Amino acid sequence: MRFAKRVENIQVSAIKRMPLLAREVPGAVSLGQGIPSVATPAYIRRKVSEWLETDPAIGKYSLQPGVPALKSAVAGVLAGKAGREVDGESEVFIAAGAMEALFTALVSLVDQDDEVLLFDPGYASHIEQVLFSGGRPVFVPLSEETDWSLDEGALRRAVTPRTKVIVVCNPLNPTGKVFSAAELQCIVAVAREYDLAIIADETYDFLVYDGRPFPSLLSFPEIRDRLISCYSFSKQFAMTGWRVGYMYAPPSVIDQALKVHDAAVICAPTISQYAALAALTARPDDEADIKAILQRRRDLLLSRLDRLQDLFSYVAPQGAYYVFPRYRKTQLTSEMFALRLLHEARVITIPGSAFGPSGEDHIRLSYGAAEEEIDEAFDRIELWNAKLND
Ligand SMILES: Cc1ncc(COP(=O)(O)O)c(C=O)c1O
Repeated sequence: MRFAKRVENIQVSAIKRMPLLAREVPGAVSLGQGIPSVATPAYIRRKVSEWLETDPAIGKYSLQPGVPALKSAVAGVLAGKAGREVDGESEVFIAAGAMEALFTALVSLVDQDDEVLLFDPGYASHIEQVLFSGGRPVFVPLSEETDWSLDEGALRRAVTPRTKVIVVCNPLNPTGKVFSAAELQCIVAVAREYDLAIIADETYDFLVYDGRPFPSLLSFPEIRDRLISCYSFSKQFAMTGWRVGYMYAPPSVIDQALKVHDAAVICAPTISQYAALAALTARPDDEADIKAILQRRRDLLLSRLDRLQDLFSYVAPQGAYYVFPRYRKTQLTSEMFALRLLHEARVITIPGSAFGPSGEDHIRLSYGAAEEEIDEAFDRIELWNAKLND
């Protein structure tokens, strides 16, 4: 078989490769993939069961841009985020996860050899999506010394006549960095100056800690015509397997994106769209707050990292549910470091190199895992570290 270069050029991200390798390590504990350990909430499951019995439409393709009731509920959520009216008919499309929304956005905009600016370290799948689109990822390093802050000079130096898009993941996976309003203002100014589109990945917008404000790119009206924002139900509602998310963009973008969506998947799974509708409309007042759960896990994980200061240094995450510690003491590549942690300590982590060149010498730890798993993983890493000291 002669495979397309487009596909030969990309790889399955290390985020998915490490758990596959871990199948050969019985009893491995995972701080790897970003999956909340909790089940999809009972109120969502109950509502879907009810609709499965009563509404035959749930087993059929949905109308093109999504189930109408969901689009309208999403438009309501977006109006709250953006502080303006949102037209669910023309400005929203329901995707098979934020991933499909991002993919659709990139393949709709990027021509062969167009350059796409990605902050580094950044989300591994954005890199593969740009490559698959035929584009060239151009990495804009963030500054670890100043808590992964934006370096305006580095951003401006990265722009060339071939630059077409800036991808802004906020909060940022893998560092948990939250861009400040001033940093976003700078990105907005560069995008306008050089006529660039902005693709925002705000999958973790609900997950910002310590009362810190979350400035969304939606709050900059001056980029309304060049902004494509992507959102997910996966993390906020513990629905990673349902595969549903959405895109908010100007109608002209939605028209193009729908051609890609139709050619690739026809529609997001209808049953999952109903689940998303339940998530937005049927939530009981006393439902546990996933953010409070994750904040406790973050604090636990950071306290365990503090006990390993000879091995790790880190910048505390401001959002999402990842920490990106730099390891000391060893010259191992991050791939080798993660493999040794897997085989010798039986802990799954993700090598930092998966997240761009600045990710080397780091690993990504997820605190989607339960508190007992975090403790168990760190007990094992402490033992492993003690052996490294011998
Ligand atoms: C930054 C970011 N964007 C998108 C996704 C994918 O979201 P979804 O499950 O909605 O496709 C993830 C999943 O981990 C993510 O971390």
